[in-house]
Amino acid sequence: METWDALRARRDVRAFERRPIAPHDLERILDAGRRAPSAGNLQRWDFVLVTGPDALRSLAAVFPGAGHVGGSAAAVALVAPRDPDEWNRRSIAFDMGQAAMGIMLAAADLGIGSGHAVVRDHVSVRRTLALPDGHECHWIISLGYPGDRPLRPLRNPDRRAFEDVVHRERWEGGG
Ligand SMILES: Cc1cc2nc3c(=O)[nH]c(=O)nc-3n(C[C@H](O)[C@H](O)[C@H](O)COP(=O)(O)O)c2cc1C
Repeated sequence: METWDALRARRDVRAFERRPIAPHDLERILDAGRRAPSAGNLQRWDFVLVTGPDALRSLAAVFPGAGHVGGSAAAVALVAPRDPDEWNRRSIAFDMGQAAMGIMLAAADLGIGSGHAVVRDHVSVRRTLALPDGHECHWIISLGYPGDRPLRPLRNPDRRAFEDVVHRERWEGGG
């Protein structure tokens, strides 16, 4: 897919076909996350790839909105060092968002759907992923061939209007 098409086609997919994802496609998707920019190029992230059905089911229970992980072909757990400093936490969150978008766009480019999941049960996620001390996982991305939301460039995405969002030169110039 062209970049512009992948960008317009990506949307959160929460129902997946049973079809597995080929290892080389998973590698490309993970590499897209690794290539993301980060503050000071610190790359404070690790990605845990999960494909085992039992582990996927456990991850699906870490938050009510994480259920889609259970039916996915694979999930990428985004793991970061725990940091007490507020600025560091914010910049890690920003960096992780960029990695997540890289992962999701690379997936869309391959016709693979992806969905976000927030983690609330940190005890469970720690146990499932065997996370080392000092690391935490706040987000998981599920992956799989879309079962219900085909990845075609959307003409009218569910978004605020362009003129409402974009301000030109100064705030008053926009919506
Ligand atoms: C930080 C973040 C957390 C999210 N958490 C969840 C979640 O726990 N479960 C879920 O189903 N979707 C989650 N989403 C997906 C959003 O609901 C989704 O991006 C938004 O509704 C737009 O959907 P669309 O891109 O399909 O149009 C999350 C998205 C972001 C950016």
